[in-house]
Amino acid sequence: MNSHSADRKVTIQLEINKEQYERDILASDILLDVLRDKIGLTGAKPGCLNGDCGACTVIMNKQPMKSCLMLAIEAIDSEILTIEGLKNTPIQRAFVEHFAFQCGYCTSGFIMICQALLLNDRNPSPEKIETWLSSNICRCTGYKEIEKAIYSVIELLNIKNQTNQ
Ligand code: FES
Ligand code: FES
Repeated sequence: MNSHSADRKVTIQLEINKEQYERDILASDILLDVLRDKIGLTGAKPGCLNGDCGACTVIMNKQPMKSCLMLAIEAIDSEILTIEGLKNTPIQRAFVEHFAFQCGYCTSGFIMICQALLLNDRNPSPEKIETWLSSNICRCTGYKEIEKAIYSVIELLNIKNQTNQ
């Protein structure tokens, strides 16, 4: 790209929550802004905007990504999952049942990081859970309820696994 290419308008297609979206954006637009302002998916939140808090976390090709740290054009050809795509899933229900929700800014990012962990490992160790959760920062939680929520889903997944064997 030349020095002015960031201001160039581009038309991109994104696959989000299994739906296709085509939008005109600037080459310099970050994914978080495109999700919120151009597509209307406002579940990913602008917290710190520098990669620290995790409020903007989405899942791309099964990996957690901080959407404030990447350009929207980098998400072309990826499967993107946002909190809106986790409606009525076990992890979303577990957060409600275990009172693991935080303020509106933090909750979706925490649910996304938990879901990403479970997509990568159906039976993560306590240390791994702690490490993954450290990707999201909130000053007002002890993380205990979130851990309870994730353990309840792990139990559910393992029960399902056993019954499928
Ligand atoms: S808003 Fe992206 S990590 Fe804080
Ligand atoms: S719950 Fe959002 S800042 Fe703590």
